[in-house]
Amino acid sequence: MKTNLQPAGTPDLERYLRERASIVEHALAENVADSDGPAGRLFQAMRYSLLAGGKRLRPVLALAACEAVGGSPDVAIGFACAIEMIHTYSLIHDDLPCMDDDDLRRGRPTNHKVYGEAIATLAGDGLLTDAFAVLARSALGPKARVPSQVALETIAELAEAAGSAGMVGGQVIDLLGEGRAMELRELEYLHRKKTGALFIAAVCGGARIGGADHSQLEVLREYAEALGLAFQVVDDLLDVEESVEKMGKRTHKDEARGKATYPSLLGVDRSWELARELSHRALDALAGFGDRADPLRMLATFSVERKL
Ligand code: IPE
Ligand code: IPE
Ligand code: MG
Ligand code: MG
Ligand code: MG
Repeated sequence: MKTNLQPAGTPDLERYLRERASIVEHALAENVADSDGPAGRLFQAMRYSLLAGGKRLRPVLALAACEAVGGSPDVAIGFACAIEMIHTYSLIHDDLPCMDDDDLRRGRPTNHKVYGEAIATLAGDGLLTDAFAVLARSALGPKARVPSQVALETIAELAEAAGSAGMVGGQVIDLLGEGRAMELRELEYLHRKKTGALFIAAVCGGARIGGADHSQLEVLREYAEALGLAFQVVDDLLDVEESVEKMGKRTHKDEARGKATYPSLLGVDRSWELARELSHRALDALAGFGDRADPLRMLATFSVERKL
């Protein structure tokens, strides 16, 4: 696949995000084909949610991390697609009636509202499983530019981050916690799993594919840990403060479902302060990196200053 990715130019965040998101979107559309065969409805449902927009923050982080260590971002495009496919699957399942029971996502009716619960569940299953095929394929064949050992480590790390010890485990704690009080420590643990784990996998996977050494990976993990937590704190805040029109998903729903959130435990002002502290922590972690990490710096700021 020819992606023609250039190294990041001027630090104009909006343009950077738009350009990178559009590269990822083209690659996603290629990797999840349309099909009018017997399972055509499944592919339609997968593409319905996958190609519905979204900030594309995780795949863009993966590409930016690859660049920060001197790698060429087009080598990481298969990995970036895999991350976004897993994220989109998690949103489809998160919205199901048996989970958060939401009817709007990325500005559209949720997947199960259009395709029904069975197909929506299977569209999530398809995206999750196909994500690993896309990632593994990027390391196979004569033109592959990701060494097998690097691909294997990345696959293992991504599976662990998305699975029972990471995101799926976090979703369970989130659901079992509905309607009961939670201490801050437990909420932090939950947010680190349900959201933070995939951020870490995105950044470390992108960096590993870009040729990061052990000490670079350690520092980038610190960056992603702080950023992932900040991102979910802001998600909680936007649920309280923003409108459905701006977010493209329902707001004011966490309180209605009895979810513990940062604003419910700490209050709105203190939660914003914490999100900014975490974003500074992420920036501090990059102190040893030069200009090549500017996109990562911009993304750390964007994650807490976003209004969507
Ligand atoms: C929403 O993620 C779910 C969370 C983990 C908070 P995003 O806010 O990144 O959703 P999209 O991808 O932009 O739709
Ligand atoms: C979702 O968290 C996290 C995952 C999908 C893993 P939320 O339930 O807070 O996400 P939104 O607010 O529905 O996007
Ligand atoms: Mg949820
Ligand atoms: Mg939800
Ligand atoms: Mg939320």
